[in-house]
Amino acid sequence: MAMLDVKNLGISFGGLKAVDNFNVTIEKGELYGLIGPNGAGKTTVFNLLTGVYKPDMGSICLDGKNITGRKTIEINQDGIARTFQNIRLFKELSVLDNVKAGLHNHHPYSTLEGIFRLPRYYKMEREMNDQAMELLKVFDLDGEYDYKASNLPYGKQRKLEIARALATDPKLLLLDEPAAGMNPNETAELMETIRFVREKFDMTILLIEHDMKLVSGICEKLTVLNFGQVLTQGDTSNVLNDKRVITAYLGE
Ligand SMILES: Nc1ncnc2c1ncn2[C@@H]1O[C@H](COP(=O)(O)OP(=O)(O)OP(=O)(O)O)[C@@H](O)[C@H]1O
Ligand SMILES: [Mg+2]
Repeated sequence: MAMLDVKNLGISFGGLKAVDNFNVTIEKGELYGLIGPNGAGKTTVFNLLTGVYKPDMGSICLDGKNITGRKTIEINQDGIARTFQNIRLFKELSVLDNVKAGLHNHHPYSTLEGIFRLPRYYKMEREMNDQAMELLKVFDLDGEYDYKASNLPYGKQRKLEIARALATDPKLLLLDEPAAGMNPNETAELMETIRFVREKFDMTILLIEHDMKLVSGICEKLTVLNFGQVLTQGDTSNVLNDKRVITAYLGE
């Protein structure tokens, strides 16, 4: 069974078909790339997958469960986590607390337990601290656990966003241009981290990236969107050799 199975997904804004008849199947453990020029509809696909927008048509199945039309929070609990094109961290919170905010999804304790600091609360807090620190180590952020998130350099903020998304223990991780604004060294390091995350957590990852060369280096499959429609999709090498992609994407 596919981890993600999307059929005939579509949404219009006014007269504009931002995503039109979009189909994709992603198997468990795949590192899959969604590419295409500015305004092609990539982020809109993520917004549809995560319930930010309700589709006008089509269906979304996650690991065999139909999640079409569910709310964002429910979809996160179902197992989709994402990062955003523009970083969205709790900037005033510490690095550690940002990751713990993700963990809270799976460590619910009642408000009363929190207020009265019952023993179970302390135990869970300790567990969450340990788990959050483990995740921060993966991203080489454990040394900065007590920094305010907004004081981290840009590249590290991007990594922290991924750590926080992973803290919700997703089945599918959606990354929207995770390398945007990074310098070449940071980008190379991030790509290594994404590969590592995929191996360590046996994660299925769908990655939006603007830079076709970059994404082709780590994704085994690609879908190319253009004007809201799938131009082509399949194995990375086949897609990159497709003349239509070169024409549409590079404008050559
Ligand atoms: N809420 C909205 N209301 C109206 N139009 C929208 C909305 N969201 C997206 N669009 C339009 O849908 C189209 C696709 O936008 P989207 O942000 O998905 O593109 P993208 O492929 O992510 O582009 P970029 O590479 O620039 O991030 C664009 O024309 C955009 O203006
Ligand atoms: Mg976008």
